[in-house]
Amino acid sequence: MNLSADQLSAAIAEAVAVVRAGWATRPHTAIILGTGLGSLAQHIEIEAEWSYRDLPHFVRSTADGHRGRLLAGRLAGVPLIAMDGRFHAYEGYSAQQITFPVRVLAALGAEFLIVSNASGGMNPLLRSGDILLIDDHVNLMGNVGRALLPVSSAETGKSARPTFYDPQLLSLAERFAAEEQIPIRRGTYVAMLGPNYETRAEYRWLRTLGDVVGMSTVPEVLVAHELGLPVVAFSMVTNVFRADDVQQTTSEDVVNAAANAEPQLRRLVTRLLTSDFTSRGQVF
Ligand code: HPA
Repeated sequence: MNLSADQLSAAIAEAVAVVRAGWATRPHTAIILGTGLGSLAQHIEIEAEWSYRDLPHFVRSTADGHRGRLLAGRLAGVPLIAMDGRFHAYEGYSAQQITFPVRVLAALGAEFLIVSNASGGMNPLLRSGDILLIDDHVNLMGNVGRALLPVSSAETGKSARPTFYDPQLLSLAERFAAEEQIPIRRGTYVAMLGPNYETRAEYRWLRTLGDVVGMSTVPEVLVAHELGLPVVAFSMVTNVFRADDVQQTTSEDVVNAAANAEPQLRRLVTRLLTSDFTSRGQVF
């Protein structure tokens, strides 16, 4: 059952009040730490933290490799608010429940959203451990997108070809990656509902649609867009599919591969956070 627009505003205000009571700073940036970036949490100077179960209207995170806490603090001196673990549609939550935290992060004053996730590589040029900068998506999560907009944004419906991933942040991420000698590539993220990994037949089909496949991110990105919050999203390729591959993907493989590639992603995120773009809210 979705909350009405009024109920949703009241729910956001309740969650914001709890966070503000423990941390009075305005975050520059919000980060969603998915499977790819979970250990970045260890590098945040934490000033306050809440288990999701202590935050009003937050649901619980149950997926492998996902913790369930909201962190407030600083990374490289920049105030930020981070979700350590996210919610997924395959956990049985509604789109509104999955994306509720994004509304709270925006209401707290965050001006940017950095998202990470793990994905399966379909583009044959991708290897396990690669980082893909998401520049577009294909939403195959069913009606997840529709349920998102009880506070209906006329704007979202108006644009024939919305740009959900901020072009300036994408360029900046590419520039920093080049400077740090971190190989990244742009590409399309295909979002499936899950929770199962894809069958070989599904992979062959999905390969025609995009570069990587995963089970998250699109709901949060749609809401961020509705709220006018610029997004940059990194996908950590944790397993790759080859047409004649008979290997199974397990959630352990995915979590381990993500942990190995995490330091590079952390460097990139730190560069973005400390760039003039994010710290002053404008392009130099
Ligand atoms: N499919 C879907 N989601 C994923 C995968 C995959 O192969 N790897 C990591 N997340």
